[in-house]
Amino acid sequence: MKVYKSISSLIKKVREVKKQGYKIGLVPTMGFLHKGHMSLIRKARKDTDYIIVSIFVNPAQFGPKEDLKRYPVDLKRDFMLCEREGVDIIFTPEAKEMYPNGYATYVNVEKITDTLCGASRPGHFRGVSTVVAKLFNITMPDIAYFGRKDAQQAIIIKRMTEDLNMGVKIKVMPIVREKDGLAMSSRNVYLNRKERCRSQSICKSLKSAKELFNSGERESKKIINKIKRVIDNQPDTKIDYVAIVDTKDLKDIKRISGEALVAVAVWIGKTRLIDNIILN
Ligand code: PAJ
Repeated sequence: MKVYKSISSLIKKVREVKKQGYKIGLVPTMGFLHKGHMSLIRKARKDTDYIIVSIFVNPAQFGPKEDLKRYPVDLKRDFMLCEREGVDIIFTPEAKEMYPNGYATYVNVEKITDTLCGASRPGHFRGVSTVVAKLFNITMPDIAYFGRKDAQQAIIIKRMTEDLNMGVKIKVMPIVREKDGLAMSSRNVYLNRKERCRSQSICKSLKSAKELFNSGERESKKIINKIKRVIDNQPDTKIDYVAIVDTKDLKDIKRISGEALVAVAVWIGKTRLIDNIILN
């Protein structure tokens, strides 16, 4: 496994790898890797011949009041985990390598970035699509892997890839959860013991939504109210949004007839967590 920090040397390497006919799999991450990230790497290992994992805490996707400065980092551990999974290359550039002085180009996917997390985090998805477009240009992957944990992000990346004819196949993998159901996230380390306990209400609320749906309920409003009740039952939790939307255009669904994405964002103390399920 080799670690690259320089864009130009990585591009040179990627050209050689492609000349040899290898299929490249890219797993973009912000590091502090957990089993969710590992599931993407393992899938890439199965599908492709050459795996690149990027580890870059992308400043462009953090708002001025967000957690960029305290985002958890442990590169030594990340390298060890990647090595163990047979990753070929880690790309971990400095911010100034990705956004040098004079940087002025951004990718903005419209409409589907205005709702859900896009509404609460203005500019967030502009930062995400920009960095992912850059990573695609640098690593020229055949397939790139994303988690359904960030469902809106995956939908936006698919849209961008298709709209800009990037020729990268996007694979979206299921949510990996802790034993008690909490969706794995690098941000879970922010939670203290009490908050960690309260965070269970998020996946519990989605479970109860699924039960309600399975028992025949199709009115989104009723399902949303059920979710809100379960979360509000815990102290020190604040709902950012609960929504039931179409899985392609992310528009609100009033009555569920086909596939629907149930997405929630909740503040547990000072930590904002997201989760979702698909009802079908
Ligand atoms: P990060 O939060 O590090 O996540 C990297 C990838 O891992 C994303 O595709 C995310 O959806 C996936 N992932 C995270 N937790 C998961 C879980 N519990 N189960 C399955 N997959 C999970 O998402 C980002 O970084 C950034 O926005 C990035 C795409 C790298 C752009 O900067």
